[in-house]
Amino acid sequence: MLKWILAILIFAVIVIQFIPVDRSNPAASAALHAPDEVMNILKNSCFDCHSSSTVWPWYSKVAPVSFFIAHHVEEARDELNFSVWQDYPAEKKSKKIDEVWEHVEKGDMPLKSYLVIHKSSRLSQTDKEVLKSWTQSFLEPDSTEYQSAGMETFEK
Ligand code: HEC
Repeated sequence: MLKWILAILIFAVIVIQFIPVDRSNPAASAALHAPDEVMNILKNSCFDCHSSSTVWPWYSKVAPVSFFIAHHVEEARDELNFSVWQDYPAEKKSKKIDEVWEHVEKGDMPLKSYLVIHKSSRLSQTDKEVLKSWTQSFLEPDSTEYQSAGMETFEK
């Protein structure tokens, strides 16, 4: 009996490997421009999910783990994709920027399950300070961030 259960399990694990999973990295048509120190932090801690330049590790190719990872990336890109950032209207940029700082401050981004494996993607206190002043600069009319995001076209 146990042998049969095991055999069916192994068979099932093999079969699910054939279920297609979308692991595409579409072109970054309108990528975010930010100072290098900001870009480095975002690339290191956020881009695997919130951009089109996801690094897909080997275990992201093994079902059922692949379903879980691909789903997270899809959901994350849907909410916020730095690779199409410039196409967002000013109002959406402003909302997303607010949320970036909110999530970083609360410590719920990057996702905990991701940090278990990607320990070096944890945000340091300095990283958080850099993200804080970057997100705040979007609200200052004199800043390049404010102007390049077209914030003046959007009345809060
Ligand atoms: C392992 C994948 C992953 C990583 C890495 C990650 N996120 Fe997320 N993020 C998600 C998912 C999935 C969601 C949507 C579901 C949710 O809100 O929990 C999300 C949602 C968000 C949202 C909410 C957007 C909205 O409109 O509600 C913000 C803001 C955000 N992430 C910022 C960040 C920042 C900043 C980083 C890096 C410091 C980061 N995330 C790293 C997966 C990730």
